[in-house]
Amino acid sequence: MLTPSGCARALVAAAFLLIFPSACQSGGNKSPQVQRALREFEGAYPLEARPLGTVRTFDLVAEPTEVPLIDGHRLRVWAYNGQVPGPQLRIRLGETLRVRFTNRLPQETTIHWHGVRLPNAMDGVPHATQPPVQPGETFVYEFTPKDAGTFWFHPHVRSSEQVERGLYGVLIVEDVEPPPYSRDVVWVIDDWLLDETRQIFPRFNTRHDLAHDGRWGNVITVNGRTDEVLRVRPGERIRLRLLNSSNGRVVTPDFSGLQAKLIAVDGLYLSAPIDPSGFELAPGNRVDIDLTFNQLSGAPLRIVDRFHARQSNHLADIVIEGEPLDTPTFGSPARAHVPAWKVGLEVPEHHTFRLNARGGGPLGIEWTIDGLAFAGHAHPHASGLTLKQGQFYRLRYVNESARLHPIHLHGMFFRLLARDGVPVDELFFRDTVLIHGREEVDIALVPTDAGSWMMHCHILEHAEAGMMTMIDVKKE
Ligand code: C2O
Ligand code: CU
Repeated sequence: MLTPSGCARALVAAAFLLIFPSACQSGGNKSPQVQRALREFEGAYPLEARPLGTVRTFDLVAEPTEVPLIDGHRLRVWAYNGQVPGPQLRIRLGETLRVRFTNRLPQETTIHWHGVRLPNAMDGVPHATQPPVQPGETFVYEFTPKDAGTFWFHPHVRSSEQVERGLYGVLIVEDVEPPPYSRDVVWVIDDWLLDETRQIFPRFNTRHDLAHDGRWGNVITVNGRTDEVLRVRPGERIRLRLLNSSNGRVVTPDFSGLQAKLIAVDGLYLSAPIDPSGFELAPGNRVDIDLTFNQLSGAPLRIVDRFHARQSNHLADIVIEGEPLDTPTFGSPARAHVPAWKVGLEVPEHHTFRLNARGGGPLGIEWTIDGLAFAGHAHPHASGLTLKQGQFYRLRYVNESARLHPIHLHGMFFRLLARDGVPVDELFFRDTVLIHGREEVDIALVPTDAGSWMMHCHILEHAEAGMMTMIDVKKE
């Protein structure tokens, strides 16, 4: 039972945070564990956008082009505004983003705003939230993000081809008062499969890629280069935002030996900064790192990926040079609270998703969720699950396959509770979690936004071969 004082407290919180007041009325038939989880969630992040009335307008055009990428030769790509990565869209929390998008590709497309809590109609899922944008057509995306942080955008039609060809960009929503870093730097990590002519290997969704962990390439780039160098001055304190935009490759960037703190995951701040080492940056994931360079110049610092224990991959270098600067001193930004949700594992799971594969379907292999595959469709009308806005849920994933599945939910953040039944205490929310072969993962969430939200594997070949479904969030 919700005590009267608890109810009054919830109503006070409601006034400030637009908490769902109905949680009070129906509190009586919720278990004490669920009531506790909901109380812990209060104030974790804003429930509503607060538009300031400022509209920031950008034009985006998707079209085939040639760019001097990778080692400087002409690479034929598909790009937003002729750039790979696409233009960096930067707004401040409370501002409204308006993107006038034009499709000049030979295929239909959409833009999905990965990680952004926005109105369902702006989510960019073809046939589910909008008709696909046909070649030659224009579509206007307009929304006010509810959260500050590092987000990204990419097509949601034939993603395994369109993202691989170069269509992606970063959306940064700055805090109302951004912390005073010396600089804010973005590293977009991508993995390319080039053929012997050094062009993008033109066959997509190959049997090999479908049967394994998607399309892993032979060239890894940071911001489109194999030789990205970040030049810093002694004393600088940098906010480094990393995105993994690869179709399939997972990277574990190694910052050991540096003064580095992990401050945000998938856009949202942690409740306290932690050591970034070992974070598996799966396709779709973002991390923000707080880096301070106290040492004077020296040998270039090599940042490598250590996802595979036996083979490390070079990502980029950091060179310290020049006149020293005064290091800005301030506490690393953090979220006031992230629910511990230790009670989450005591709440019965609302649903168990079973992830697996089988032969068949248009691509020869189908990746399934609960035995269903939506191959070649980004628009399953059959909803996999219905949830209620403002309610607390534990969901479980059982990976019955031996492959990797970075599972991504649109329109909501979740917390990881356990891997293989062992509680995991992450100090952060996520929108994407890597599930390893044969692994079982428990997550918890409170959906905040009504609508039809996609859930899929972010290994884009797995998604194209069916590993996607919809979660319908109903108003309470
Ligand atoms: Cu990057 Cu449906 O997601
Ligand atoms: Cu997968």
